[in-house]
Amino acid sequence: MDTFRVELGAQAHPVHVGAEILDRLGELACAAGLKSGRAALITDSNVARLYGGRATDALAQGGFDAAIIEVAAGEGSKSAATLDQVYDRLVAAQLDRSSVIFALGGGVVGDLAGFAAATYLRGLAVVQVPTTMTAQVDSALGGKTGINHRSAKNLIGAFHQPRMILADVATLATLPDREFREGLAEVIKYGAIMDAPMIAALESAMPAILARDASSLQRIVDQSLRHKATVVASDEREGGLRKILNFGHTIGHALEASAGYGSYFHGEAVAIGMIAATALSRAHAGLSAADADRLQRLIEAAGLPTKMPTAWRGEHFERALKLDKKRTGEGVEFVLLDRLGHALTRKLGFEEIVAHL
Ligand SMILES: NC(=O)c1ccc[n+]([C@@H]2O[C@H](COP(=O)([O-])OP(=O)(O)OC[C@H]3O[C@@H](n4cnc5c(N)ncnc54)[C@H](O)[C@@H]3O)[C@@H](O)[C@H]2O)c1
Ligand SMILES: [Zn+2]
Repeated sequence: MDTFRVELGAQAHPVHVGAEILDRLGELACAAGLKSGRAALITDSNVARLYGGRATDALAQGGFDAAIIEVAAGEGSKSAATLDQVYDRLVAAQLDRSSVIFALGGGVVGDLAGFAAATYLRGLAVVQVPTTMTAQVDSALGGKTGINHRSAKNLIGAFHQPRMILADVATLATLPDREFREGLAEVIKYGAIMDAPMIAALESAMPAILARDASSLQRIVDQSLRHKATVVASDEREGGLRKILNFGHTIGHALEASAGYGSYFHGEAVAIGMIAATALSRAHAGLSAADADRLQRLIEAAGLPTKMPTAWRGEHFERALKLDKKRTGEGVEFVLLDRLGHALTRKLGFEEIVAHL
């Protein structure tokens, strides 16, 4: 097991990454200083079936008497209606201010349970126990929580740092292939923006990763979370450095929104977005052709798409791009690479972006 801390002053917390460590959840939560007793385990229908029993047993061993709160699997559960049901269950479980909420599942559960924890009784401790690639390398760390509004994704939310993160890479064995691969887009992203040796390691380890070899998974989850922790610790609320985590996301979000949510998985749209961002990096940041090629080949090796769909140049896409949150004035704050392993941001006009797609 690898353990490190996210250095956030009073909100610093440990991160544990390992294979078959779910059974140590209760013990490690106690070691993190969390108070045992009444607790809640929020999870979704798929994850409850696969890991709910093991998680509650592990919690019982640490003295946590956890009420299981199960929501339907899928993005639809990041809603005010589901949140309201979660509050009902928290009331019924008689949690008090010192109780702990455990979020066991993918990013949907992490965001929903994190937001419930941020708001219920003005804030309860939350432990993130991510079980998807996306959640293990990205959403569990950083403290962003929230739900969707009918008008936009993630519109309602709060920053609420977890008290501990436990990523058991063995749980990734049961993840459907497409969900597994999309999470790799974020892993490749960390290498592209801040760690050139990680790109080389991914190039050689990709077959083992795709075969879900536990030690390879432990390495990439650990590296990814450490990179995100470094960025988040230096810039918790997304003023400056944290922006580089949006590499591939400006085009990616516009693609997701214009193609209709669901046609592309987030990581697939980000993969295409990273390729588009490399073309812009060639034009505006001096990225070499060789580096651009390497990134493209790595994304292909992960089984992710790299081509803009033929029908992208629609009005929907332009509107979505213009609506991007990171848009300032007439331009978009765009994350570019000047070389593999190093990112910078540049304000680019809308026409400059579209010209290179
Ligand atoms: N808070 C953040 O910083 C942040 C960052 C990135 C994404 N997100 C959010 O995360 C969400 C997407 O997360 P996701 O991709 O994990 O989706 P998800 O939570 O919907 O999980 C995907 C599917 O996998 C199933 N599943 C989960 N773990 C499994 C396992 N071990 N084995 C088998 N099946 C399993 C789930 O039941 C679900 O059907 C989005 O709502 C997105 O907005 C948040
Ligand atoms: Zn992302």
